[in-house]
Amino acid sequence: MNITYFGHACFLLETSKAKILFDPFIAPNELAKGIDVDSIECDYVLLSHGHEDHIADAESILKRTNATLVSNFEIVSWHESKGIKHTHPMNIGGAWKFNFGWAKYVYASHSSVMPDGTYGGNPGGWMLEVDNQVIYYAGDTGLNTEMRLLGERYAIDWAILPIGDNFTMGPVDATKASDFLNCSNVIGMHFDTFGYIQIDHKEVKDLFAKTRKNLTLMEIGATKEL
Ligand code: NI
Ligand code: MN
Repeated sequence: MNITYFGHACFLLETSKAKILFDPFIAPNELAKGIDVDSIECDYVLLSHGHEDHIADAESILKRTNATLVSNFEIVSWHESKGIKHTHPMNIGGAWKFNFGWAKYVYASHSSVMPDGTYGGNPGGWMLEVDNQVIYYAGDTGLNTEMRLLGERYAIDWAILPIGDNFTMGPVDATKASDFLNCSNVIGMHFDTFGYIQIDHKEVKDLFAKTRKNLTLMEIGATKEL
């Protein structure tokens, strides 16, 4: 399966059965101006929490593609009130078998409010079992011991973790998260987009290498095979 990075926390995962888009924040992202939002095709849009830098393009993409929105109950209801028809509400700890495989909405230590101030429910991340691989998409989160449980419960192949610090975990905590998750294949997200989260790529890569972990920092627009 392939994964494409659209900047910040936005990825498109193309499995053999479906195209799954995570946290679209493309049009307002200066760093992603080379990406044409209107050309993105997907079957599902998964939203981790209600913050603008994770949902900015969700409504337009959902309306254009007729993709199914999967998120917590509050975020789904908010989008339904804007005319989104294909939805699947979930909440922390719950899993569902979709046509592409299993998705579980898992704990994240963060906050969640919609851009207009509406309550956004509890923030989360995703554990996906797709095409015989397990992929953990952490969403915005600090390091937390729930990750240890996830590492015990799942044989995680890829961990997509925030590394930009300030609003989420930073690089050092992300290496610890990788230990908790028992997964050394890390794809970084939530870095460089704003002043608060700019990172020194070489320094961060060296840090991960020192702890014998593989950190991938994808170029915006690049595709990687998982
Ligand atoms: Ni956030
Ligand atoms: Mn964020």
